Amino acid sequence: MKILLSTSEATPLIKTGGLADVAGSLPVALRSLGHDCRIILPAYPEAIENSDGLEKVAELALPGHNQDARLLSGTAGPHKTPIYLVDAPRLFDRPGNPYLSPEGFNWPDNADRFGLFCRAAVHVTMDRCGLAWKPDILHANDWQTGLIAPLLQKTPNRPATIFTIHNLAYQGLFDWHDFERLQLPEELWSMQGVEFYDQFSFIKGGIAYSDQVNTVSPTYAEEVKTLTYGAGLDGLLNYRSDDFCGILNGIDYQIWDPEQDPFITSKYTADRFESKLLNKLALQREFGLPENDSIQLFGYIGRLVDQKGVDLILQVLPGIMDSGAQIVFLGSGNSDLERSLLKLSNKYHTRVGVRIGYDEELSHRIEAGADCFLMPSRFEPCGLNQMYSLRYGTVPIVRNTGGLADTVIDVGAASLSNGSATGFVFDQPDGESLWRAVERAIEFYHRPDVAWQILAMTGMQQDFSWEASAKHYMALYESALQCMTV
Ligand code: ADP
Ligand code: GLC
Repeated sequence: MKILLSTSEATPLIKTGGLADVAGSLPVALRSLGHDCRIILPAYPEAIENSDGLEKVAELALPGHNQDARLLSGTAGPHKTPIYLVDAPRLFDRPGNPYLSPEGFNWPDNADRFGLFCRAAVHVTMDRCGLAWKPDILHANDWQTGLIAPLLQKTPNRPATIFTIHNLAYQGLFDWHDFERLQLPEELWSMQGVEFYDQFSFIKGGIAYSDQVNTVSPTYAEEVKTLTYGAGLDGLLNYRSDDFCGILNGIDYQIWDPEQDPFITSKYTADRFESKLLNKLALQREFGLPENDSIQLFGYIGRLVDQKGVDLILQVLPGIMDSGAQIVFLGSGNSDLERSLLKLSNKYHTRVGVRIGYDEELSHRIEAGADCFLMPSRFEPCGLNQMYSLRYGTVPIVRNTGGLADTVIDVGAASLSNGSATGFVFDQPDGESLWRAVERAIEFYHRPDVAWQILAMTGMQQDFSWEASAKHYMALYESALQCMTV
């Protein structure tokens, strides 16, 4: 099957979060199943720099845009995944990240930037660029690609369309003037289309017009059909429920493997679990904390945003300090949270380590060196770090929501006796509930037997590889093709 995956980020080209991991790994998994999967994304400077063998293959003249745009073709990563980059320097050649300026504000012309990207993806999809390649499936991801399905829907000989929601909280909301300026077909502006309470919603376009829609875990797929998690789109998702499902993300076990991770101090496996402690000592050293392998070390890595519940960690921090444990944070985002964390690392300088910023290599060392990993998310479509933690024998403490609920099995009498327990799970998004889970983890860690090692090693044996998820995507593509012919 020929598949074009459209995305606003993909490793190893450019990454701000989990979408990049997925958009980088799924094509590799699909290609190893024998399918011709290619990626299309905007030509940000970093993406150009990290690509191989780029050449210009077409000039693009796109309706609704009077920008110069070109299509570049090349490959990405060691597996040489074929890529197309949409090169429109006035829109994409900027500092900052794909969505935000260096000062942390949304680029004011995001509707034009991703509107143009969607138009370009339609051109490639319909083989209007002289590539002599036409996909059977157009697989769009998140709001930045939400206009592709509506633009394709009435095109003869179009491919089947899939839309994957990685995070319903980011919707790409603009206004009528943006809609008008992008010269979109007028009939799209309706309650059944991209109009959303008088605003112009990119994500709604993807959900309403794609042949099949999915999100990245079975539990989140159920949650978003409720008022609490639906972000105003629960009605539409219920309406589409026959064509809407959850497919759990996989993780890349070549990049995340404690046995061959080039970024960690000491490589280890479940059979050589003792070597993990050397990583803990190295991590304590890296953060300037006292080196002692019997101190329990907690870790956090992630965007510092409301979704991730970092404020809940701040609520339980005094308790963690009283237990004698240490904690390290790596992240960036909300400036109040950044400041609070830095303040705490000054106050408890022998127990709290904080790095504000984005550091891929350090994230591996935290996964390898910490004893447990905190992920108290208010909602979590899938979450990758808890799966990385399991692979690294770092026991996750997670909230019972979304992909966290689908990947971590709570320590309890039954799960301990049948050997399925992998972490600590709590229900309510408040400090008290998180504290009860943290307290259980502290007690469990200090048990005189080898219970902690067994728990960590059970995590290491779980299989969240892409193989299974890629097969689910193939089944979804098949059903999209079928529902088109009906
Ligand atoms: P989300 O996509 O919501 O941010 P995920 O858990 O799906 O959450 O994926 C986050 C990805 O980004 C993981 O690969 C994580 O290691 C990485 N990450 C997030 N923040 C940082 C950071 N500050 N430094 C390094 N890696 C980070
Ligand atoms: C989003 C979600 C995260 C998910 C990732 C990849 O950013 O917040 O839960 O793992 O996308 O699908």
